[in-house]
Amino acid sequence: MTQEEIFKNLISHTKEYGFIFPSSEIYDGLSAVYDYGQMGSELKNNIKKYWWDSMVKLNENIVGIDSCIFMHPKIWKASGHVDAFNDPLIDNKDSKKRYRADVLIEDYIAKIEAKIDKEVAKGRKRFGDSFDEAQFRATNPNVLREEKKAEEVRQRMAKALNDNDLAGLRQIIIDCEIVDPISGTRNWTDVRQFNLMFSTQLGNISGEDGTLYLRPETAQGIFVNFLNVQKSGRMKIPFGIAQIGKAFRNEIVARQFIFRMREFEQMEMQFFVRPGQELEWFRHWKQKRLSWHLAIGMGEENYRFHDHEKLAHYANAATDIEFNFPFGFKELEGIHSRTDFDLGRHQEFSGRKIQYFDPETNASYVPYVIETSIGVDRTVLAVLSAAYRQEKLDNGEERVVMRFHPALSPVKVAVLPLVKKEELTNLAQSIMNDLKYDFNCQYEEKDTIGRRYRRQDAIGTPFCVTIDFDSLTDGRVTLRDRDTMAQERVPVSELHSIVEKKVSMKSLLEKI
Ligand code: GAP
Repeated sequence: MTQEEIFKNLISHTKEYGFIFPSSEIYDGLSAVYDYGQMGSELKNNIKKYWWDSMVKLNENIVGIDSCIFMHPKIWKASGHVDAFNDPLIDNKDSKKRYRADVLIEDYIAKIEAKIDKEVAKGRKRFGDSFDEAQFRATNPNVLREEKKAEEVRQRMAKALNDNDLAGLRQIIIDCEIVDPISGTRNWTDVRQFNLMFSTQLGNISGEDGTLYLRPETAQGIFVNFLNVQKSGRMKIPFGIAQIGKAFRNEIVARQFIFRMREFEQMEMQFFVRPGQELEWFRHWKQKRLSWHLAIGMGEENYRFHDHEKLAHYANAATDIEFNFPFGFKELEGIHSRTDFDLGRHQEFSGRKIQYFDPETNASYVPYVIETSIGVDRTVLAVLSAAYRQEKLDNGEERVVMRFHPALSPVKVAVLPLVKKEELTNLAQSIMNDLKYDFNCQYEEKDTIGRRYRRQDAIGTPFCVTIDFDSLTDGRVTLRDRDTMAQERVPVSELHSIVEKKVSMKSLLEKI
């Protein structure tokens, strides 16, 4: 099965089992907007708790806030979003469809890369076991020609984007003879900048003065509360402010399921440091954040750093943590050393002094900032895609299992009376009543036990507890492990501690 097919199956699985639904589906959906179902919202909440606890509970010098989505419109002028938070767009005059110019070019490069992969696959078939891929790539004239072509286009695009050269971007589309995937024509408009912020109107003020924006990032809510938090919490530098919340972007290219959405959630932490110490802290947070990801157990090989070579004018270091999604390595989190840009701009635009008096150096300064910024939904997608397995069992049957880290699983324990007889259901209910205060449990008495196991595998429940007639006399139940499918008899009195050990958030947090 190809990666694409597996990804399609995953998307339908998440719908069938209540993880993710297309928004407004009975009205044919709303593109790039998704709802989380009963399983998805539990999974998402667990991910948010893992992040929040790793920041706020584990670090005495990091506190959390919850600022509003609506903020004073001047904030977005100060942050640069009004003037520069743009995507380069191009329209096809025949299909009337709008595209991101850089994405059209990236798709063109991806096609060249696919051609190269095909050539390599042909070579592998021809040479069999003696095939040396590295040597083939370094010497095959077709591969070399295509690689050169891709690299030239890549470099032209990077230069045009950096220089904000919209005519240059259009010229690449023309030169590469890129056609509209819908109309098949090359009838393109000019490339224009399109601001990604959604705007709305404040009730009692008309015109531009009343324009409000839905925040495109949560970070600005942290910057504008810097003084409030620092003073009320008597925080000493270095310290951090964390926040989880919704952000909105009018993405033109919205695809790859919940990877790029118009309404999404971010988990951001701004860490305020003494000027001159920012690169040390940048390295610290780079490693800390990678450890946070690795603790989930989705495989070290599935992560990589992508350091930015070209930096925004206000940043002096930046990297992405990329994850190997079903459609390749893509950005999951950004870590940025943003200097004193944001606080400095808010100082300038608000006219308020935003400074910190450092008792150790006896000096006042605008703190420097290291930002860690990760999308909740992208993390959900990473966790879902790494967990999803279609497995063939020894008895010839198949199962779909979500191998989530148990601390992230939506349901921790399924309580299953073997048959629907009062003696068994009474004991099952009392076990359920004991566990439900600490763990999210599901009680099921319908269908064969095998079917119930399959349903729990499909939502990633780490433990199934089966109550049978022996349980009434020996006080033991069968505990089934999701991953090994091994079953063991354990005393009812030990259930709580066995489950606790495996599913507690502590098991994750300790690894960071
Ligand atoms: N404050 C910095 C900032 O917002 P960003 O790289 O634009 O930086 C940070 O966004 C993270 O937010 C990304 O790494 C990604 O995980 C997530 N993100 C950004 N745009 C998104 C979208 N349209 N849909 C889902 N997640 C998104």
